Amino acid sequence: MKRFYDHFGAGQDRQAFYEDPALDDLVAHAALAEARVITEFGCGTGRLARRILTGLPDAAYIGFDVSTTMLTLARRSLASCGSRAAVLQLEPGTVQLPIADRSSDRLISAYVLDLLPVADIGAFFEEARRVLKPGGRLCLVSLTTGTTLVPRLVAGVWSLLYRLRPQLVGGCRPIRLGAYCAPAHWDLLHLRTVVTWAISSEVLVARLRT
Ligand SMILES: C[S@@+](CC[C@H](N)C(=O)[O-])C[C@H]1O[C@@H](n2cnc3c(N)ncnc32)[C@H](O)[C@@H]1O
Repeated sequence: MKRFYDHFGAGQDRQAFYEDPALDDLVAHAALAEARVITEFGCGTGRLARRILTGLPDAAYIGFDVSTTMLTLARRSLASCGSRAAVLQLEPGTVQLPIADRSSDRLISAYVLDLLPVADIGAFFEEARRVLKPGGRLCLVSLTTGTTLVPRLVAGVWSLLYRLRPQLVGGCRPIRLGAYCAPAHWDLLHLRTVVTWAISSEVLVARLRT
């Protein structure tokens, strides 16, 4: 995965044509204006971080990614934010974030969990419980299965390609985020499927129970 995204680099931002409507929905439901510390897992080029921080002059941000290329692009994109934005590298294969317990108001991840093995997605939700402050929000977007005929067909073909040769679809596949969001730990505030150009994205915002 690291090698793929090291090579893909700024090409990631060409996915904006289907990602942006879902990211708009995420931002609309994340209550970011209330957040002092925002953490992002898999920040890519820093495109979402830049958008968020532009509107929040007092918030601090820390982004993580495995890809050296992405880190370079994100640092460049966020340079104008100075010391309130930091971007750090994670070792491939870990979802553990090197930040303190209960240190973040928001944990964001867009189009990353759909790349991870099922066990790692579950582990990420556990890690979210550790790093979020009580009442903090987990804010996620991923590819998902379709709800109507054409998006469902597209998601079906996508899943088939993933099973045959994951590299053909960038190593990601449609998943259902809601399945990981245990009501014992999370209040589900927002769960919506956004379809753009027949590609379905799931947006989930959940509050950590106190
Ligand atoms: C599809 S891109 C999404 C990037 C960005 N979030 C966006 O929406 O444009 C996936 C990103 O996750 C990163 N990534 C993949 N596996 C990761 C992992 N285990 N830990 C952290 N980052 C990871 C990749 O390097 C890449 O930057």
